[in-house]
Amino acid sequence: MTSIRVAAIALALLGIASGEIVKRQAATVSEPTEDEADAFTKELCRDKGAGEWFRLDLNDCRDVIQCTEAGLQALRCPHGLAFNLELQTCDWKDNVKNCNQKEKKRVVKPLLNTVEPLCQENLLACGDGTCIDRTLFCDGKFDCADESDENTCDIKSDPNSAPICNPDECRLPDCYCFNNANEVPDNMNPTNVPQMITITFDDAVNIENIDLYNIIFDSRFNPNQCSIKSTFFVSHKYTNYSAVQDLHRLGHEIAIHSISHSNNETFWTKASPDEWEREMAGGRVIVERFANITDSSVIGVRSPYLRVGGNNQFGMMEQNAFLYDSTMTAPLQNPPLWPYTLYYRMPHACHGNLQNCPTRSFAVWEMVMNEMDRREEPTIEEDLPGCAMVDSCFSNKPTADQFYKFLVNNFDRHYLTNRAPMGLYFHSAFLKNDPEILDAFLFWLDETLANNPDVYFVTMTQVIQWMQDPQPVSNLKNYEPWKEKCNVAGPPFCYGGTNCELNTDELPGETLRLATCMRCPNRYPWLLDPLGEGYF
Ligand SMILES: *[C@@H]1O[C@H](CO)[C@@H](O)[C@H](O)[C@H]1NC(C)=O
Ligand SMILES: *[C@@H]1O[C@H](CO)[C@@H](O)[C@H](O)[C@H]1NC(C)=O
Ligand SMILES: *[C@@H]1O[C@H](CO)[C@@H](O)[C@H](O)[C@H]1NC(C)=O
Ligand SMILES: [Zn+2]
Repeated sequence: MTSIRVAAIALALLGIASGEIVKRQAATVSEPTEDEADAFTKELCRDKGAGEWFRLDLNDCRDVIQCTEAGLQALRCPHGLAFNLELQTCDWKDNVKNCNQKEKKRVVKPLLNTVEPLCQENLLACGDGTCIDRTLFCDGKFDCADESDENTCDIKSDPNSAPICNPDECRLPDCYCFNNANEVPDNMNPTNVPQMITITFDDAVNIENIDLYNIIFDSRFNPNQCSIKSTFFVSHKYTNYSAVQDLHRLGHEIAIHSISHSNNETFWTKASPDEWEREMAGGRVIVERFANITDSSVIGVRSPYLRVGGNNQFGMMEQNAFLYDSTMTAPLQNPPLWPYTLYYRMPHACHGNLQNCPTRSFAVWEMVMNEMDRREEPTIEEDLPGCAMVDSCFSNKPTADQFYKFLVNNFDRHYLTNRAPMGLYFHSAFLKNDPEILDAFLFWLDETLANNPDVYFVTMTQVIQWMQDPQPVSNLKNYEPWKEKCNVAGPPFCYGGTNCELNTDELPGETLRLATCMRCPNRYPWLLDPLGEGYF
C-alpha cells in the first residue's frame, strides 16, 4: 500500500523546472484517492518542522520537498548542485555529505513542559527522561546523554532565562529596562533631556587613521565648553599604543574589540567562556599595559563583525568586570531605544538570524546599537531594512549631500522623539578615503554643535553616568562627570615612542610591530601571553 502512494506522490513531483519551486497538492493526484493522499501527507509531515526540506527518496540528491499549508511543495536544485539537508539549501555537490539521508538529523528536545513534572524541584528532564539540575540547561555544555539540554535555548525556551522586566524592582541607578517606546529615564520631559551622541570607531588605531581622529576631535566643543569625546573599540593587531595612550589622555574612551579580530564569524558566535576571556580580558591587559591606562576605565566590549556571543560572552563580561557591551543591534524603529541593563529580558527581538543573544540575567549594560534609517526621504520612500555601522548604510558611495541628509534625518529621529542617545558607528576608512564625505561630516558636526545648546558628543561611559544620575540640560554646564578631562592641554606622554619589532610562537612566521611609550615586551603580545613576556 505505502509504496503505491509513494510512487504516486513521486510521480506528481516529477518534471519540475530546475531550481524552481512548484506547488502541488497531494489532493490533485488522481490515483490514489484524495483521502489516502491526505493521510499519506499527514503521516509524512507529522514529525517535520515548519519549512523543513527533506527527501522523499534517495534517487536524486537535487530533489527535496517540504510540507506547507497547501500540501507538499517540491524543490529541485540547479544542475551541478545538490540539496544540503544540514544547511537546508542548494549547495555544491562536494559539500553535501547527506545524500544518503532522507531528513536533517533530528535534535532531541528536552521534556520541559509536561503535564505532570517528571523531576523533583530544581531538576528538569532531558529528552530521554533523565533528570538533571535546571542550571545545566543552555549553559553551553552538553550534560544530557542525548545532548537535549542545549537544543532549545532561545530566550523564550531557556529554562534559566532572565525574567520579563519588573519595573517596580528595576530602578536606576543600577537597573534600567526599556518598557515602552516613549520612555525617558526618570520620566523626564524629552525637551529637558540632552541629546547625547556617541561617535565610535572600531578596529586598530594606527598611522592609517590617527590624523583623521585629530581632524575630527581637535577644537570642537560641547555646550559645556569641554572638547567633544568619543569611544574607540580597539583591536590589538597593528595597533599603535602610543596613539591609544594619547587618545585616552585627551579624554576619549578606550574599549575592547578583541585581540585576534578573527575573521571566522562563527567563531564569535560559538566561542567558549575561556576564548571570550582570552580575547577581551586579554585585550584589556594589553591596552592597559602598553598604553599605560591605569584608571580602570576600560570597561566596554564590542564583538568583531557584531557577532553576539550569547551567554558565554556576557558571563565572561560579568566575571571580568566589563560594565557594558555595544554589539547588539535593535531593528530600525521609531522612536529608537535607550540603553538598558540585562538583569531582565532584553526589550527587543534578537536581531539577525545568525545572532546568539544572551538569555540569562547579567549585571551588564547593553549600549544597544539602534539601526539607522538609510532612506533619503523617509516620509515618502517605502521601508528599507536598517543598518548599524554607518558604512553598511550605503550600497554605493554616497554623495556629500546624501550623507549630510542621512545624518540630519537620523538626528531628527532621536532629537524630536524620546532623545535616546544617537550612535554614529564608524570604521575609519569610510571617512578617511573620501574627503567629500569627511567634509560633509565635519560640516554637520559644526552645524549641530552651533545650533543646539542641548547636544553633547560623549563617550559610552558618560551616557551611563547620565542615565544613572539624569540631569536636565539646564544643569549640565557644571555636571561633573562630563567635565572630566574637559580640555586637556600639553604635550603627549611621549613622541612616537618605540616601534618594537616582535614575534610570537602563537603567530609563527610573522614579524609584527607594536609602538608604545612603555618598554618593549619580549614577544608580540597575543592570546596566551598578553604581556608578551615570552612564557606561557
Ligand atoms: C570557524 O569557527 C568554527 C567555530 O569555532 C569552526 O567550527 C570552524 O571550523 C571555523 N572555520 C574555519 C574556516 O576555520
Ligand atoms: C603610567 O601612568 C602612571 C599614572 O598615570 C604613572 O604614574 C606612571 O609613571 C606611568 N608609567 C610609566 C612606565 O611611564
Ligand atoms: C604611533 O603613534 C604616535 C602618536 O600618534 C606617532 O607619533 C607615531 O609616529 C606612531 N608610530 C608609528 C610607527 O606609526
Ligand atoms: Zn572590527
